[in-house]
Amino acid sequence: MNDNEHTKIKFFSGEKIPLEMHKARMVQRIDLLPIEERLNAIDMAGYNTFLLANKDVFLDMLTDSGVNAMSERQYAAMMMADDSYAGSETFFRLSAVLGDIFETRHFLPAHQGRACENIIANIFVRPGSFAIMNYHFTTTKAHIVRLGGSVVEVVYDEALSAESDRDFKGNFDMNKLETAVGEVGIGNVAFVRIEAGTNLIGGQPVSLSNMIEVSNFCRDRGIPLIFDASLLADNLFFIKTREAEYASWSLADIVKKMASLMDIIYFSGRKLGCARGGGIMTSNDEYFNRMRPLIPLYEGFLTYGGMSVREMEAMAVGIRETLDIHIISQTPLFVEALGKLLLEKAVPIVRPFGGLGCHVDASRFVDHIPQEQYPAGALAAAIYLIGGIRGMERGTLSEQRNWDGSEHLSAMELVRLAVPKRVFTLSHMKFVADRVGWLYKNRDLIGGLEFEEEPDTLRFFLGKLRPIGDWPKKLAAKFISHMPSGM
Ligand code: F0G
Repeated sequence: MNDNEHTKIKFFSGEKIPLEMHKARMVQRIDLLPIEERLNAIDMAGYNTFLLANKDVFLDMLTDSGVNAMSERQYAAMMMADDSYAGSETFFRLSAVLGDIFETRHFLPAHQGRACENIIANIFVRPGSFAIMNYHFTTTKAHIVRLGGSVVEVVYDEALSAESDRDFKGNFDMNKLETAVGEVGIGNVAFVRIEAGTNLIGGQPVSLSNMIEVSNFCRDRGIPLIFDASLLADNLFFIKTREAEYASWSLADIVKKMASLMDIIYFSGRKLGCARGGGIMTSNDEYFNRMRPLIPLYEGFLTYGGMSVREMEAMAVGIRETLDIHIISQTPLFVEALGKLLLEKAVPIVRPFGGLGCHVDASRFVDHIPQEQYPAGALAAAIYLIGGIRGMERGTLSEQRNWDGSEHLSAMELVRLAVPKRVFTLSHMKFVADRVGWLYKNRDLIGGLEFEEEPDTLRFFLGKLRPIGDWPKKLAAKFISHMPSGM
C-alpha cells in the first residue's frame, strides 16, 4: 500500500471528511443523561472531569490514553501471549518488533509512560540540574521536580499562541536552546528531551529537520537526548503530510531516521501502539546498564515490566500498525473535522489542527474568568454539563504550585477534547460542535472555580473544586429553556 493512498479517495462534492478505512465489529452502548443528572454528577465530582464516573459520561473525550480502539489483529495476538514471570516469549517478540522498527538494541519494559519517566529521571536528574525540552508534560515535570531538578522550555514564543497557525509548533527554537544551555552550564544539563506531538500546547508536532538540528546540537556537546515517542503516531502523520522534504519517504524510514538521532526513546504504550503499557529503548550500553536494575525494583521482572503479557502482544502489533497511514491518519483527520465544525461556530480553538484532540482555547472562550479561577477547568466542567462530553483541563489547574505556594499560571488555558483512534463517528463530532457552539453563545453564564481539596502533587487528577457562585445551576436552567428535553 502506498503511504499517500489516504488522500486519493475524494468526494464528488469536494467535501473533505475523514473516510474511515475500517469497519466496527464490536461496539459499546453509551447514554446521555438529562442535564439535571449531569449537574448532580459534576457537582459530586468536585467540578473535576477526572472524577466523573464513566456511566455518567456520553462522549468520553478525556484522553486517548489506553482507550484507542484495537484492531482484530491485536486481539488475535493477545491469545498467543506467553504467561511466565521470567523469560516470556512475548517479551522477545515485542523486543524484536521494537528493534526492527526503531533499530535500537535494548528494550526495557515498564507499566506505562510515567514509569519510564521515573526511571530516566532517576538516572539523570540531580538536585539543581536542568532538563531542557520543547515543552513539559505533567508527569515528566513532576518526576524531574521531585528529584530537585527544573524544567526549561524552548519552543518558539508563537507556539504558545493558540491563534498562530505556524506548522510544527512543537519545534525547538535553536536560539533558545543555545541560550538555555549557556545559562545553566553544560555540566548542569541533565538531558534534552524532545516530546513528539507536544501534548500541552495542543498536540503540535516537531519536524524531522528540527529533530536533526537538536540532535546535532546535543551530540556536539555530549548532552543525552531523550525522545518521548508517546505521541509518535500523530507526529509521524504530520511529518509525512506537512514536511515536503520527507513526503516521499516511507513511514518506516522516517521512524528509523528519527530514532537514529536519539540516545533514549521512551513511550506510553497507552498511546503509541493502542494498548496499555510502556517502555524504554536505547542502543547506549551505559545508559541501558544504569536503567536496567530499576526495572525489577519499580516495575516488575525485566521481561514484563509490570505489563500483562496480553497487552505486550497487542502492543507489538499496534506499534507495527503505526506504520500504516490509514491508522495514524485517524486522529488528525477527525481533529480537523471537529475543528472545522467548531470554527464554523466561531469557537476559539488551537490552530493549526494538531493531533491527540481538538483544543478549545479557554483564555478566549471565557476571557472574563481570571486565570486564578481556572478558566479551562470551569470550561471543561461546563462542556460536560451541557453535553455530557468529558474533556480535560490543560491549563493552570494542571500546573504545580511554585515552591513558595504561589500559583504557576499556565502559558495556555486549554480544554482538550481528545479523539481516540477509531472510537467516534462524524455524527459524534457534530454533536460536540453543536453543544460547544451553544455554550459559546452563552459563555457569559460560565463562572470560575476554587479549590475545596487541593493535593500537593498532580492536583488536577484528584483535586476537588467548587463553583464561585451558582453559575452551573443558571447555565443548566438556560439550557433547559432552549432544549426542554434536557438531553
Ligand atoms: N508523555 C506524553 C507526551 C504523554 O502524553 C503522556 C500521557 C505521558 C508521557 C505519560 O504516559 O499516561 O502512560 O503514564 N498522556 C496522557 C494524556 C495521560 O491523557 O495525555 P502514561
